[in-house]
This record gives sequence, structure tokens and C-alpha cells, in this order.
Amino acid sequence: MDMKKILTAAVVALGHSTQVACAAGGAGEVKDVDFSFDGPLGTYDQMQLQRGLQVYTEVCSGCHGLRQVAFRTLTDLGYSPDQVKTYASRIEIWDPELLDGEGDFRPAAPADHFPAVTSAGAPDLSMMAKARAGFHGPYGLGLNQLWYGMGGPEYIVALLDGYTGEEKEEAGVILYENKAFPGGWISMSPVLYGDDVEFADGHATDVYNLSRDVAAFLMWAAEPKLPQRKQFGLVGVGMLTILSILLYLTNKKLWKPIKYRGGRTVRPAE
Ligand code: HEC
Repeated sequence: MDMKKILTAAVVALGHSTQVACAAGGAGEVKDVDFSFDGPLGTYDQMQLQRGLQVYTEVCSGCHGLRQVAFRTLTDLGYSPDQVKTYASRIEIWDPELLDGEGDFRPAAPADHFPAVTSAGAPDLSMMAKARAGFHGPYGLGLNQLWYGMGGPEYIVALLDGYTGEEKEEAGVILYENKAFPGGWISMSPVLYGDDVEFADGHATDVYNLSRDVAAFLMWAAEPKLPQRKQFGLVGVGMLTILSILLYLTNKKLWKPIKYRGGRTVRPAE
């Protein structure tokens, strides 16, 4: 077997073991999604991140906070510092130091973080794409990360696009059937119906594409330096490879048999 076949076999085996583990845990259905940041050379698509920010702002931010993300980091998405300032100034945040310590709302500045607003039970989304990584499907573990990605954004897409339309009431709470949510019933109502936002770049606004854009944005929020981390990883692998070749050649040279004039051959260590 050549190296590629061995690697492929290993990846397939890993994929199977994680899938089996998930099936046993009763986790939901998550399919692979193509993201620009998949693969060893993947990077974020700034236009997609901008669309994702728009979906988060217009749809998710009413319930979910993003309190670990500072507005100024939005320049990563290709916005100018002035655009970031304008965006932040439209969001009201709670400042406990205003009114002599009584606290009051004020427009946010670039140095502030997104608010932690959460409606009852809605978790903060700052780390969600990483918190849900590797739990569903062949993702997030070892070599699989390179081929399939982390799994967190795939899960978010599957969740947003996984409602069946069924609902039920349990202990006064309405639950919605969802194919991706572990256990099958979630208290978050369907939030995307298609055409929920209008994109300046004219990109598709069906539920799947909106979900994909906001999932990419949430991956960036959780791991803004993902592409750099991948690059460091590749450089590391490259250096280790060169080192291995050098060691191999050195070793070969050191152990090369020595031929004496009399016809006798000895290995150096003898
Ligand atoms: C009307 C309020 C509301 C809106 C709007 C909303 N959510 Fe939620 N979301 C919730 C609640 C409540 C939960 C907790 C559900 C549960 O645990 O049963 C939740 C949970 C989640 C989870 C975690 C699921 C898990 O595995 O625990 C994710 C991811 C999520 N929401 C993403 C989003 C995204 C992305 C948007 C915008 C497209 C959004 N939500 C819009 C209320 C909302």
C-alpha cells in the first residue's frame, strides 16, 4: 500500500468510529458542508463572513449574545475602522459605570464587546462553533479535521436547516422537532424561513445558504485565527519532514560499511 492509501484508510476508519459513537449517543443528523476554511490551506471568505454578520445581527442577536467578540475585530471581515465604528454605534450596550454607578445604556464603541443579551435559555454564541465541534459525524478528530473540518459549523447549518415543522408542548414549554439537535426536540423555534435578509452582494438567501453564512461567521467568532493556525501547522509539518530526510541521510552515511584495501568490509560500529 502506498502512503496515500494508508492515510485514506486511516481517515475512513476514524470517520466510522466517530459515526458509530454518535449513533450510540442518539445525536442528530449532520451532513458535510463545503466551507472555504476547510482543508489544510483553507481561509475565511470575507464576503461570506460579512453576510453571516448580517444574519447574526438581523436574526440571531435578538436572543443570542456574542460577548467574547470585540467590535474592533470586525476589521477582519474587511470593514474599515470607520465602518466598524458606525456598526458599533448602532448597538446599545449596558455600561455599569454610567449614572454614578447605577448603570445605563450607551451606544457601543469599537473597543466594546458585543452585548451578552440572551432571551431565556439562549446560549451565548461566541464559542458555539467550537463547543459543538467533533460531536457529530466524522469531524473534529485528528486527521479528519483536515478533510472534513471541525464539525461545529456543519452542526449549526444542520440545526438551522433541520426543523421538521412538528411541535409539542412539554411542561409549559413549546418544543420544535429538529433532525440535528441531540434528542430531537429543541426549544428554539425555527428562525430562518428564506429571504429573511437582503444581501448587498446578491447572494442566495434560501435557508441553507443563510445558515451556511451565519455558521461561517460563528466559526470566525470562535476561532478568528484559524487560517493562521493551519499555516503554522503546515510549516511545522514541512520542517519535520525536512528534518526527517536529513536524519535519514545522516544515518545512512554514518552506517555506511567501510571497505578496506585488503578487501575486508566492516560496519563502523563493529
Ligand atoms: C427567539 C429567540 C432565538 C433566536 C432569534 C435564535 N435563537 Fe438560537 N436558541 C434559542 C434558544 C432558546 C436556544 C436553546 C434551545 C435548547 O437548548 O432547547 C437556542 C439554541 C441555539 C443553539 C445551540 C443548540 C445546541 O446544540 O445546544 C445554536 C447553535 C443556535 N441557537 C443558533 C442560532 C442562530 C445561528 C440564530 C440566528 C440565525 C438563532 N439561534 C436565533 C433562541 C433563539
